[in-house]
Amino acid sequence: ATIRREDYRPPDWLVPQIELKFTLGIEKTRVQAKLTVERNPEGLEAGAPLLLNGDELKPLGVWIDGNPSDSWTMKGDDLLIPLAGDAHEVAIDTEINPFANSKLMGLYASNGMLCTQCEAEGFRRITFFPDRPDVLSRYKVRMEADEAQFPVLLTNGNPVETGKSEGGRHWAEWEDPFPKPCYLFALVAGDLKPNRDSFTTMSGRKVDLAIWVRKADLPKTQHAMDSLKEAMAWDERVYGREYDLDLFNIVAVSDFNMGAMENKGLNIFNSAYVLADPDTATDVDFDNIARVVAHEYFHNWSGDRVTCRDWFQLSLKEGFTVFRDQSFSADMGSAAVKRIEDVRILRMVQFPEDSGPLSHPIRPDSYMEISNFYTSTIYNKGAELIRMFHTVLGPEKFRAGTDLYFERHDGQAVTCDDFVEALEDASGVDLSQFKIWYSQAGTPQVGAKLDYDAEAKAATLRLDQRVAPTPGQSSKQVMPIPLRTALIGEESGTEIAPEQLILLDGLSREVRFEGIDEAPLLSINRGFSAPVVVHGARRDGELERLAQSDTDPFARYEAMQELAFGALLAGTRGEQADFEPLIRAVRNTLRSNELDPAFKAEAILLPQEAVIAERLEVIDPDAIHSAREQLRKAMGEALMDDLAKAQSAAAGSGDDLSPLAKGTRRLRSVTLGMLAAGDPQQGARIAKAQFDAADNMTDRQGALGVLVSLDAPEREQALQAFYDRFEQDALVIDKWFSLQAAAQRSGTLDEVERLASHPAFTLQNPNRLRALVGSFGMNHWVFNDASGRGYRFVADMIIAADRLNPQAAARQVPPLGRWRRMEPKRSELMRGQLERIADTRGLSRDVYEQATKSLA
Ligand code: ARG
Ligand code: ZN
Repeated sequence: ATIRREDYRPPDWLVPQIELKFTLGIEKTRVQAKLTVERNPEGLEAGAPLLLNGDELKPLGVWIDGNPSDSWTMKGDDLLIPLAGDAHEVAIDTEINPFANSKLMGLYASNGMLCTQCEAEGFRRITFFPDRPDVLSRYKVRMEADEAQFPVLLTNGNPVETGKSEGGRHWAEWEDPFPKPCYLFALVAGDLKPNRDSFTTMSGRKVDLAIWVRKADLPKTQHAMDSLKEAMAWDERVYGREYDLDLFNIVAVSDFNMGAMENKGLNIFNSAYVLADPDTATDVDFDNIARVVAHEYFHNWSGDRVTCRDWFQLSLKEGFTVFRDQSFSADMGSAAVKRIEDVRILRMVQFPEDSGPLSHPIRPDSYMEISNFYTSTIYNKGAELIRMFHTVLGPEKFRAGTDLYFERHDGQAVTCDDFVEALEDASGVDLSQFKIWYSQAGTPQVGAKLDYDAEAKAATLRLDQRVAPTPGQSSKQVMPIPLRTALIGEESGTEIAPEQLILLDGLSREVRFEGIDEAPLLSINRGFSAPVVVHGARRDGELERLAQSDTDPFARYEAMQELAFGALLAGTRGEQADFEPLIRAVRNTLRSNELDPAFKAEAILLPQEAVIAERLEVIDPDAIHSAREQLRKAMGEALMDDLAKAQSAAAGSGDDLSPLAKGTRRLRSVTLGMLAAGDPQQGARIAKAQFDAADNMTDRQGALGVLVSLDAPEREQALQAFYDRFEQDALVIDKWFSLQAAAQRSGTLDEVERLASHPAFTLQNPNRLRALVGSFGMNHWVFNDASGRGYRFVADMIIAADRLNPQAAARQVPPLGRWRRMEPKRSELMRGQLERIADTRGLSRDVYEQATKSLA
């Protein structure tokens, strides 16, 4: 069944209070719920019955105002209770089996502990409840469990009382003073140890912080703790947001569908985003931990205190919170490099999503399964929209807007329109035209052409825009596109027209620049001010010059990327492109004394094959691969000495996490890859040396990531050594699977099939599934092997995983949806596998939606 945004109705019943009693056990947990229900004065249906959602639940007993009742009925999975009057107390008993819960939604067992995931609709797997974000309740929770097995009992809010009961059991009662929707409920029971610390808020309140993990993992929690304290201070400084409970708990879980979850006062994390030390985690892992810890913490305001009215508004909290975590990371390190990384992800994941069959607006109009809409569009493109508001308003007005938003809507469940209205009211700026970004899918294509009239000392910039049709939206409206733009002098290399914000708010626009007395170069969409593709008409030498002198670091990076695109796209057409301009630009970049190594690494990386594919009408993966490999080889050969120098730069010790040390390590591995493209034998030797000498996971994984794509004896040796050394560390073994699945060699097809029957592989663990199948799906060339074996493998995995965990399985479907522009043979093979998936009996709603929409 399809749920539509336009069908939203306020709830007929509210639940201001709920009391929950859990009698916990791995295979049997008793849940006794007592709901105080009140008829909603805003409800539309007079006398409507109480509708409580359930999922795989059976009521063991129902009591109304203390009296056993049998007047209820089941409506599908839901419980329907006819009620006269306006206020009642409804009690319901249920019993669940956390051990059998392989979907990892609701209450489930992981490694002998019990934990929950309720967003979006997992609470209905715990007890019957109006499982919608606009029903907010105060929670009182009592947990009772065997003390030896579950010494630690945690839930939202503050602990009130604890005690012992018979038979070695104990209990704890907690209360959360903040009304919340049920998707923010959380409970954890297990044998966990805390890393404890505290934070004093700006008003002087002391907050107890704890990160709970298995005892052996305690030494790996300090970075997450440091990140949490940085995030708390940052949100006070930048948004004026203070934490509101006496304690803040984080728990790491090894079986988790997503990254982490912002449950009020009790964030639950995929252990991949908590645990790190230099020997087992890369610099990127460290950065991701800081990012996700901050993201979940920031949700305390943008998500928990102010939540979503319905799930169509998901980007209200996710787009905004991603923008907040991006700004936080930018402030903690190099803002320029962070921006480049964010745009790289956007182009790699969101742009293909937006141009494919699963394209949807930031605020979708319909869905079958909401879990399928935790997408890069909702999150990352959503963040880009918030960033555009920030750009257009400027930091002060934007802050006034968010202050008003939090004040006006504290304790409410609201919409994206409410957010924009708060920005408008506080700033006095009309943002109505920008709302089209919420409803219109697709990546705008912007044409840009700069003409120079030397005699008149004037330049004219001609802009136009176009959005291609997307599913359900055949004709598109004009979008407002804010383009930070400057002109750079071709001779002087300085800004001859200072940066200005040009708003392209019509189909086309002309902007004239006066007093331009040397030939100008166009520096446009600086800082990636709008999430669009710019098709610039460039003069010979323009990009090379910009790559050297653009005063905006992002635009400078972009000039390098465009230079590379020129060479790569010519290559895919079978033309012999001139590699020299790019090679010169890369050489200058490597030799620069002013650029930092992290920027250098980003700037010289070639666009990924999937990103190149986005620029082609008809995709031939072999042509893309060979064009890219040819260019890599030419660069490697021409730049061997510079590459070797960067590769051998000393990066200090592995636990030096300064931006300089991290950048140096990143550049080492990027240059190693290029060097190996130029001379595979020498590359293998140097990579193996880096691998053997590494005192940290960044250098080790960087080297192994190069070795896996080479046909050299060092490859097997390193893979084996890596496995033997880290066999006991699940997160590192995930890397081992992932690196092999991403290997750029034809043997990868056989290898992934072998790895799928490796004893360490399991479909039950989402991280492991993602490591093998997710990484393989992103391996553009091998996944798209002409035989279709790659497609069949992924389809087999999806069908098998779906029986256990629909959400995790559905996330592997999108790579198969790229058939539309694929060359005909592969296109056919992809469709065949999608059809096979769609025809599978007993398919989940999650996979069904993704497969059928991918076919449409
Ligand atoms: N709200 C979480 C976050 O952004 C994501 C949780 C989504 N969970 C899910 N099962 N779809 O961090
Ligand atoms: Zn989030």
